[in-house]
Amino acid sequence: TYVVTENCIKCKYMDCVEVCPVDCFYEGENMLVIHPDECIDCGVCEPECPADAIRPDTEPGLDAWLTLNADYADKWPNITVKRDPPEDAKAHDGEAGKLDKYFS
Ligand code: SF4
Ligand code: F3S
Repeated sequence: TYVVTENCIKCKYMDCVEVCPVDCFYEGENMLVIHPDECIDCGVCEPECPADAIRPDTEPGLDAWLTLNADYADKWPNITVKRDPPEDAKAHDGEAGKLDKYFS
């Protein structure tokens, strides 16, 4: 599966939902997650993210993010249509500590 990681938080560009062939993105207030049981590992979303926040779970060190994606994909609503990103998305791109500061 692919995994949405920290830099999505407060950037939430939503380009990813436009390209996913199986519509497996789920939306929280400040970030999206991927449902690990629905993702077919096609990889097309990874280069589309302007925040470079999407990774394959074969990369090391992503266990906590995989768990977070799985947990919240079951709680949050499905999202299939891109809207305007937050006005301050660019200001939060690359910011450290976004999980602790803003996760929701
Ligand atoms: Fe969707 Fe493919 Fe990305 Fe998985 S890898 S979330 S199936 S676009
Ligand atoms: Fe987040 Fe990137 Fe999608 S910022 S909403 S994973 S395009």
